[in-house]
Formats: sequence, structure tokens, C-alpha cells
Amino acid sequence: MENINAIILAAGEGTRMKSRLPKVLHEVMGKTMVKRVVDTAKELGAENICVVTGHKAEEVQESLRGENVEFALQKEQLGTGHAVMQAERFIDDSKDVLILYGDTPLISADTLKRLVEYHRNENNGVSIISAVVENSEGYGHIIRNKSGAFVKNVEYKDATDEEKLVKEINSGIYCFKGSSLKKALKLITNDNVQGEYYLPDALEIILRSGEKVNAMAIGNVAEFAGVNNRVQLAQANRIMRERINERHMLNGVTIISTENTYIYDDVKIGMDTIIYPGCVLEGNTVIGEGCSIGPDTRLTDMRLADNVAVQYTVAMESEIGSGTKVGPFAYIRPNSKIGENIKIGDFVEVKNSVIGNGTKVSHLTYIGDSDVGERINFGCGTVTVNYDGKKKYRTVIEDDVFIGCNANLVAPVTLKKGSYVAAGSTITKDVPEKSLAVARNRQQNIDGWAKK
Ligand code: UD1
Ligand code: CA
Repeated sequence: MENINAIILAAGEGTRMKSRLPKVLHEVMGKTMVKRVVDTAKELGAENICVVTGHKAEEVQESLRGENVEFALQKEQLGTGHAVMQAERFIDDSKDVLILYGDTPLISADTLKRLVEYHRNENNGVSIISAVVENSEGYGHIIRNKSGAFVKNVEYKDATDEEKLVKEINSGIYCFKGSSLKKALKLITNDNVQGEYYLPDALEIILRSGEKVNAMAIGNVAEFAGVNNRVQLAQANRIMRERINERHMLNGVTIISTENTYIYDDVKIGMDTIIYPGCVLEGNTVIGEGCSIGPDTRLTDMRLADNVAVQYTVAMESEIGSGTKVGPFAYIRPNSKIGENIKIGDFVEVKNSVIGNGTKVSHLTYIGDSDVGERINFGCGTVTVNYDGKKKYRTVIEDDVFIGCNANLVAPVTLKKGSYVAAGSTITKDVPEKSLAVARNRQQNIDGWAKK
């Protein structure tokens, strides 16, 4: 959308979180609440985004470094109206401005788009998102006249008994005409029960100035639920998790247990992939079609081709080719490029290594800083010894090598094409093509030793 700016209020302390961290820096599905709101404003197309900070302002600003947002400082939290006054210089007379909150992370760009469209179609001075709820305690109440026209917002604490019965509540989210908001801010006072400058007072002020004011009721109250404590934080996580899971399921991904699957926003998953319980899929992870992920697997910034199976595994910043099976209990560390139709079995760790197609690493093996070719067989308990206490060295293993069980490959070292390593060997010299390296003591049997 064009000609729209956003002001995000994030100055409050959030004492009920009982935390050293500013409230808006708590995360919902892997992203801070305030970043979520910034991203939603960006998704809508907001040109300028101003975040009003106050409590632990530096920390909040630091967390948004590089986000292309501006900041206004509210030194003392004297109310939502006062918070917006601090951002006055960001209000453009000729543009609409949305008011959002750093602790209301579930608001969707779709709903905001509907609000702005409604606002423009009706030519309102300000438009409010409202909702009709059973328990309206604590919220601002939308007061209408007999013919249903908007009259004013009254805060719960200031409401008369009759006004308290009203079920239409103010979400606190508005779309203002920039010019109308600017004029109204000058007229807001703190003459109320809480002694605060209430932003909702702007609604009545704008109405009295002769402009149209109205509220657009939405059904999904959860979208503007604020997070004030850790119970509400857990609820926000649940709602966001379900929202993301639903998007994937509607795209053809099977999720066995939606309660138990955590997929962060930017993850992409192909059709017919099945996610088993206990998975956390994070960062820019991309998963192909027909994969089987989990149970109990954490993937961070991973790239999986089609038909990959990964179970009980932690993997990060690496690639896995099609048809490869990983786990149970594997650990794939950054900068690994694992090819196609490979088997990475139990208790195998791979770090900063390339592994060629068709290779088998079935159990209890460490492959670090290695260039591993195709069709190689790793015996149980192979270790690439890549570190001498100061420097790291590479191990090179060419195609069709066979490594017996419990071998140490002390880098830098190369096992040439088609060579063999005998079980129990500690290899310190290159092994020529097609030869067998045996590097262990011969067995001696001492007759009758036990009798002596
Ligand atoms: C506000 C609305 C109320 C609405 C409700 C919806 C006001 C006066 N009331 O009530 O009509 O129904 O939201 O949730 O606006 N903040 C600042 N600086 C301040 C004060 C607040 O940044 O000086 C931020 C807070 O961090 C918080 C948000 O604004 O995120 C809401 O402030 P709060 O005072 O809690 O208003 P509510 O009582 O929730
Ligand atoms: Ca509140």
C-alpha cells in the first residue's frame, strides 16, 4: 500500500514479564515481538516506521539495528497519547499513519490492509479496529449513539457503570489521517482517572472537528491480544505457531503434531514432506519435496533437497542432497555439503566437510575439515584427527576408499582412490591408490601366560 507510515509504541516497562529484558524483546516463534510488528508494517508497505522507545531504549534500538526504522524517545511514560506526541515529527500531513504496539505481535498485515482500505473508502479522519467481546474489562470501550454512530472511546477505569456494560472494545490500533492526528495531539490532556495522555481521546477530538470517525469490528480478537506476562507470551507463541503450521499444511506439508512442531517464519517446505513431532525448523531453512523430518530434529539455516530423511538430529548451516538419510542422533555442523544417497547414521558428527554421493558413514564417526569422495565406506568409529592444538588440517579421502573400524586419520593426510585402511589403524602418511594401509601393532599371543 502507498502513502502509509507507522508508529509503533514500545516505551512501556512491562513489569509483569518479571524480566531483565525489555518486554518487546521477548521472542514469539524466534523473533522479538517488536521486530514482528516492524516486519508486519513493512509487509503492508509502510514507508516510514517510527518506533517509540523509553524503557531500556538503547537495548530496543540496538535490537532493530539495520532495520531501516526511525526512533523517537519517550523519556517518561505519560500515556499512549504522550508516546505518539514524541513521534510528531514523523507524522506526514499528507499520509495515513497506523498506530501499532511493540507488545501486540499477532496483528496481521491483512487486517491492517483492510483497516486502511476501510479508512480510505469511508474518508475517515481516523478509523479504529474494534471487536465485540464477552469480557470487556480493562479495555477502552467504544461508545455509540442510538443510531450506532461513533461517539467516543472511554477507558474502562473512567467508564460509568452503564458504559462498562458495552461489549465493543477498542483494540488500540488505528489508522489516522496524518494531518488529523497532528492537530488532535495538540488537544489531548491528562484530565482523567489515570492522569495519562490517552491517545483514544484523539478520536473524539477528530470527530468534533467535523471529520468522520468509525470503528471496523473484526472477529479475530487474538490478533490484537497484548502480551503482558509470560502466560500471554506462551499464548502468543501458540497462536503464531498454529498460524505458520496451517500455512504449510495448506501448502501440502503433513504435520503429525501441530502442538509439537515449531517452524519459524522464513522456512520453506516442499509438498508431501512429513514433519514428525518435536521438530524446530529455524532461520532460512529450505526443505524439498517428499522429505521426512523428525521426530525430534532441529534444523537451522539448512538446505535439504528432495526425499531427504532426517531423524533425531541437530543440523545447521549445511546442505543435504536428495535421497540422503541422516540420523538417528547425528550432528551436522556449519559448512558441510553432504551429497546424494548418503547414509549418515547414529552418533556421527560432520563439520566443515564435503561428502560425495553414495558414501556410508553408518556409526560413531567424526568427519571434520574433510573432503570425502563418492562411495566410501566408513567403519564404525572413524575419526578425522584435524586439530593439533594450534591449527586445523584437512583430510582428503578419494572415491571408493574403504576404511576399517576404529581408524584415526591424522590430517593433513590423503587416502588415494580405492585404497583400504585396516581396522584399528592410525594413519599419518598418505595411502597410495588401491593399496592397503595397516598401521597398528601385530598381535602377539603369549602361551600359558595366565598360569604364571
Ligand atoms: C490501550 C488503550 C485502550 C485499548 C487497549 C487495547 C489507551 C489509553 N488505552 O489500553 O483503549 O482498549 O490499549 O489493548 O491508549 N505505551 C507507551 N508509552 C506510554 C504508555 C503506553 O509506549 O506512555 C505503550 C505500552 O508499552 C503498551 C501500549 O502503549 O505497549 C499500551 O499502553 P497501556 O497504557 O498499557 O494501554 P492499555 O491500558 O493497554
Ligand atoms: Ca496494557
